[in-house]
Amino acid sequence: MKALLLIAGGSTLVYAMLAVLMGVIPGIELSKTPPGPGVEPLTPLEAEGREVYVANGCSYCHTQQVRPLPEDAVFGRPTAAGDLAYQTPELLGSERNGPDLSDIGARQPSAVWQYMHLYDPRSVVPQSIMPDFSFLFRVVAQAPAGVTPVPVPKPYAPAHGVVIPTHKAVALVAYLLSLKQPPIPGYQPPSAAAPSAAPPSAAPGAAPAFDAAEGAKLFSANCAVCHQASGEGIAGVFPPLKGNAVVLAADPTQQIHVILEGLQGANVGDTVYPGQMPAFKSVLSDAQIANIIDHERTSWGNHSPLATPADVAAERAKLKHQE
Ligand code: HEC
Ligand code: HEC
Repeated sequence: MKALLLIAGGSTLVYAMLAVLMGVIPGIELSKTPPGPGVEPLTPLEAEGREVYVANGCSYCHTQQVRPLPEDAVFGRPTAAGDLAYQTPELLGSERNGPDLSDIGARQPSAVWQYMHLYDPRSVVPQSIMPDFSFLFRVVAQAPAGVTPVPVPKPYAPAHGVVIPTHKAVALVAYLLSLKQPPIPGYQPPSAAAPSAAPPSAAPGAAPAFDAAEGAKLFSANCAVCHQASGEGIAGVFPPLKGNAVVLAADPTQQIHVILEGLQGANVGDTVYPGQMPAFKSVLSDAQIANIIDHERTSWGNHSPLATPADVAAERAKLKHQE
């Protein structure tokens, strides 16, 4: 009997000690991690949106942890403990059926896109397997004053009425847009530190060459969710690049400018689009932007002179100078 008590008591004691050592103490230590530079607490609306995110199981398919691995670089910089100071319990997630969302507010800052995508992911990403969250929206005959209906494209829109977000959808999108990784002073992403791949060299006087396969891949990864792989955009929401004046212009300066800095509220082909074009200056290198531009300039029936990484570098330097 005594031996039995000793075994039971002893193992309980060891278990309790391990729990304190490996769980409780590190937990207390971690909760003291101060917020990183630029990491802000959530607003009440964003905090509500976080609840909607949890309630709808977004974490089953999306992580919020960028690992310090080359394959994670597309999602942002590696996650630091200070990023999560106001995000407890953390929504790190473990499955990545969809992309990591740690920096989605920077990567996809267009609220219009987020609403369309939540209402029906297929309306912007035709091949998407993400379930729709249309139950976070309402279909009404007419949008009440002050509420902008979601510009759902025809095949996905209800037969009658317009789609408006419920309060839950508004909060969820506010939360998604708040997910931005503030830069860590002094941190150099490995790709920026390493010399970028040299552009294919061209003989002097020859037309500059570009990597067509790479251009198509980069366009598909960064631009197709709005402008679509067909270059036709989504009528009234995201402009077509097929036949677009800026893409057809011999001088690529404006096209480079738009990609580096983004664009909103401009008049493109006589339409002012409700969507927002994000800035790509901290996402894409000069060589990558030149490749994308040349993809646009040689696809969908477009034929215009190619741009080079040097053109992009020159425009980037000009913009830096203005800052
Ligand atoms: C069953 C898995 C699944 C669930 C659940 C899910 N998603 Fe997704 N999500 C995906 C997939 C796959 C993609 C990539 C295709 C696409 O863009 O639609 C994606 C893409 C996204 C994107 C675009 C990411 C980018 O980098 O372009 C956002 C934003 C997003 N999801 C938000 C959410 C939110 C918010 C929820 C919860 C309300 C959610 N997802 C639930 C699978 C899922
Ligand atoms: C979130 C959606 C979105 C994404 C992603 C996006 N764009 Fe755009 N783009 C837009 C919108 C919206 C406009 C029109 C903006 C306006 O009217 O002010 C636009 C405009 C443009 C224009 C035309 C500018 C003009 O003045 O005619 C070009 C060129 C362009 N985008 C290229 C790109 C490239 C290249 C990428 C990828 C690196 C990209 N876009 C990614 C939404 C997007």
